[in-house]
Amino acid sequence: MLISKRVQGMYPSQTLALVEMAAKFKEKGYNIISLAVGEPDFITPPNIIDAACKAMKAGKTHYTPPSGIKELRESIAEKYRTVNGVDVDANNIIVTPAKLAIFNVLSAFVDPGDEVLVPDPGWVSYREMVRFARGKPVSIRLDEEKDWRLDVDDIVSKIDYKTKVIIINTPTNPTGGVLTNEDIKAIRDIVLDFDLILISDEIYEKIIFEGEHISPGIYDDLRMNTIIVNGFSKGWAMTGWRIGYLIAPHRYIPELEKVQQHTISCAPSMAQYAALEALKTKSYVEEMVAEFKKRRDYVYERLSKMPGIKVRKPRATFYMFPRYEQNVPSKKLAEDIMMKEKVAITPGFAFGNYGENHFRISFATSMENLEKGLDGVERYMESI
Ligand SMILES: Cc1ncc(COP(=O)(O)O)c(C=O)c1O
Repeated sequence: MLISKRVQGMYPSQTLALVEMAAKFKEKGYNIISLAVGEPDFITPPNIIDAACKAMKAGKTHYTPPSGIKELRESIAEKYRTVNGVDVDANNIIVTPAKLAIFNVLSAFVDPGDEVLVPDPGWVSYREMVRFARGKPVSIRLDEEKDWRLDVDDIVSKIDYKTKVIIINTPTNPTGGVLTNEDIKAIRDIVLDFDLILISDEIYEKIIFEGEHISPGIYDDLRMNTIIVNGFSKGWAMTGWRIGYLIAPHRYIPELEKVQQHTISCAPSMAQYAALEALKTKSYVEEMVAEFKKRRDYVYERLSKMPGIKVRKPRATFYMFPRYEQNVPSKKLAEDIMMKEKVAITPGFAFGNYGENHFRISFATSMENLEKGLDGVERYMESI
């Protein structure tokens, strides 16, 4: 096999496996209802699209500086200072797609054999990116009984001399949980005691229904060890634009910039101008979040009544992560629901060992689809 061991050691995305299965059914003429989508079903707000068109027509179609255009970095810094209470400036920021930002940071900090603590259940790509960097992902458990907050004792028990990085994600995919100030303070103690690098993935910041988003960057002493990742994909329905950013201490920026220079060079220029406009766009985001909240309430109501299902009401994101008591592995459950009901859901095991016996429902789809999709899930749960 000529493929590198690094890539051989990665697992394919289990969330995409279901999407591919759904595509095959669609090719055969079946109408598949997908409750597995990981992006808002809304179109990017028109003023943002216009801003990108205007920039392109004005000739902004070239490479930009690797870290991104200054106006955007300044706007992001201002947003973090004023909205999040994090004391940063434009020179702390590298504009790059959020996923690449995480990849960039892991490439810059992880040496072969280093251990990286990743949330479990947690976003599927953290583990594989750590593996790609030749590190070892180590699961830290999110506590379902505590609305999917951190289990601090579990984190401490997983730390040893090889631990280098800890990743947190708030609001959280796939659970819809939101970390509290108490969680962040506990993380702060751990990061400072063990001198770790903290990656705080805040991509779902805007889609929050109850509680508030707290960035660990608010703590001055923690900021020296913290790299924040955020982006425009989820909050402004801009997944296709591939635009986000990282915020890092000044001392790390030159190193992180090297990775940026030798990979993507810079984020797409027109998307950077679109992002600049996004930071000024509020009402569209609020309307989108209000719609997600309505759907959240509906999905919660339906799932709560299904046999064998126990579900926590997510306080954020467009995901719900119910537990089921029926004795079926989540992979088989998702495949069966697809085969029998033509409904795509994401099996919990895809998000880590602690995700088993759960499935993820995305409510980033119309009420009509939710109703039909949940009818299918209900029929299946009743049948087993
Ligand atoms: C938790 C989490 N972080 C990061 C990303 C990547 O975001 P982007 O598509 O903006 O690169 C996603 C996308 O699904 C996500 O769910």
